[in-house]
Amino acid sequence: MTCNRGSALLRRSRFQDPPAVTAKGIKVVLMTTTTLKPVAATSTDADVKIRIRDLTKVFQTKNGPFVALDPMNLDIPKGCFFMIVGPSGCGKTTLLRILAGLEEHTSGTLEITAPAAGRPSNSMVFQGDSLFPWMTVWENAAYGLTMRGKPKGEIKDVVGHYLARTGLSKFHASYPHQLSGGMRQRVSIARAFANDPDILLMDEPFSALDEQNKVLLQEELLRIWEETRKTVMFITHSVDEAVTLGDRIMIMTAHPGRSKMIVDVPFERPRKVLELRAQPEYGELVYNIWGHLRDEVQRARAQDEGRAS
Ligand SMILES: Nc1ncnc2c1ncn2[C@@H]1O[C@H](COP(=O)(O)OP(=O)(O)OP(=O)(O)O)[C@@H](O)[C@H]1O
Ligand SMILES: [Mg+2]
Repeated sequence: MTCNRGSALLRRSRFQDPPAVTAKGIKVVLMTTTTLKPVAATSTDADVKIRIRDLTKVFQTKNGPFVALDPMNLDIPKGCFFMIVGPSGCGKTTLLRILAGLEEHTSGTLEITAPAAGRPSNSMVFQGDSLFPWMTVWENAAYGLTMRGKPKGEIKDVVGHYLARTGLSKFHASYPHQLSGGMRQRVSIARAFANDPDILLMDEPFSALDEQNKVLLQEELLRIWEETRKTVMFITHSVDEAVTLGDRIMIMTAHPGRSKMIVDVPFERPRKVLELRAQPEYGELVYNIWGHLRDEVQRARAQDEGRAS
């Protein structure tokens, strides 16, 4: 199984309905109810970076065991930009924390191919602030490399590169409280890439940002990712964001979390966020994924209401 790397729109045939044009020349794009073609969750390919088999997570709570993740089977190909969408509370963060080694799984197996010697297995970018407030932008971005005892010259080159890529060079001596929320998230991204992990784990990194900053950061992330083609697992509540960034999207069920469907995103790379969004095929894909997600969001809401009453 290789991750989708379309050089042109794949499965073009799904999108061939010609747009209707009204008398005033306004294009009316017909939203079809094309069924998404699911991708197999597992494969026998050697090029798999993360292999998950029958993975479960049960939390012990004062009300008894709470099953956060139902048996999950999933393969993430090397270099895949893998997106996870699912209703609140379905276990997305739990899954990422297990992958990051911050949480133990209860049963099943998790295999992650070992990184090259001296490279960290993963770096995590969280929602909101995760910078050290007493460190400058430069020190924050250099943190992983400094902790690994990298030579000063290498740190200077790598950190300088990623601060430039995220437009932060001029702010290298600033402290987090002197930056906007968007700038702070850019430092987090620079830090994650500078650390050069094998896998990048991102948990709703842009959800607290306004729409304009979000689009700019998505473009920046795509540009930096193009340089490295790292394996990324990225959680979002936004189907738009999932389709904009991802090669592949997993839709999770309401609690207990399972993979409901995995689909490929057929858009060519490199991508330009606004141009991509102007394509009718983009709207159709978002619409179709929403169709599958909506049922789960409604189920999650009913569960929450049941719990509250
Ligand atoms: N340490 C814990 N102890 C008990 N229950 C937990 C613990 N951590 C998470 N949970 C529960 O597990 C479920 C999944 O939590 P998780 O944070 O993974 O959800 P999520 O999909 O990331 O939600 P959101 O989209 O709101 O961030 C939730 O019902 C949560 O209350
Ligand atoms: Mg979460």
